Amino acid sequence: MNIVLLGPPGAGKGTQGERLAERCGIPKYATGDLLRDAIRLDIPLGREASRYMDSGELVPDDVVLRLVREALESPSSARKGFILDGFPRTQVQAVGLQALLEEKGLELDAVVFLDVPEEELVRRLTGRRVCLGCGAVYSVRTNAPAAADTCDECGGRLEIRADDREEIVRSRLRVYRESTQPLVEWYGRSSTSLHELAAVGSVDEVYDRLLSAVGCS
Ligand code: AP5
Repeated sequence: MNIVLLGPPGAGKGTQGERLAERCGIPKYATGDLLRDAIRLDIPLGREASRYMDSGELVPDDVVLRLVREALESPSSARKGFILDGFPRTQVQAVGLQALLEEKGLELDAVVFLDVPEEELVRRLTGRRVCLGCGAVYSVRTNAPAAADTCDECGGRLEIRADDREEIVRSRLRVYRESTQPLVEWYGRSSTSLHELAAVGSVDEVYDRLLSAVGCS
């Protein structure tokens, strides 16, 4: 199974992708997470990426394509497949992905577009809390931790992602509309199966829709 999860910031790509990856026994690669790891490690790629991420702009295509190539060349993806979360985000990235897959004799089985109204996205992102220790994701509205600011899983401290401040969220949504949303139509015209899901309702409800769309073999 080779799957792309496409959707605006806060659509639930990470939340749903984690569950699907576990169920299918395949790795999930989120370009946002890979970039944040590079920032934490303070390597040159991370320093370059943070200039764009802090303001909600997209990191240059060549940087992201390099990261995805490395991920797809890992032995676990070659064996069983992969889920891409937050990539591709531009047409250049989509074409780059296609070329990369062709080079490796692979193809996409499905592209899933998670659709959520914009004001709900703003509510979700401004209410998100992330564990500094293990990366677990909470929502102050729908999935709050038992003790404020403390992770139920590992006891780590919860933080608000720097780019989840409302003004940055609005700018990420604008970038999404301009650069990424056109990919829904682009994939719709391609030979890859495109599944458009209403990603509203509870996490379980959305997951059920996702599973019935892509299954898991
Ligand atoms: P990235 O980290 O990819 O952020 P994003 O796409 O903006 O997506 P998010 O992680 O914010 O949201 P999500 O859809 O995963 O939602 P989640 O499941 O967490 O990118 C960050 C930055 O990195 C970009 O701005 C860019 O600078 C750079 N970047 C990354 N990839 C790039 C690329 N390919 N090219 C160039 N630059 C790139 O859920 C959100 C919240 O909602 C959580 O609190 C969750 O608990 C809650 N929630 C989830 N589902 C539901 C539900 N059904 N109901 C209620 N709440 C829910």
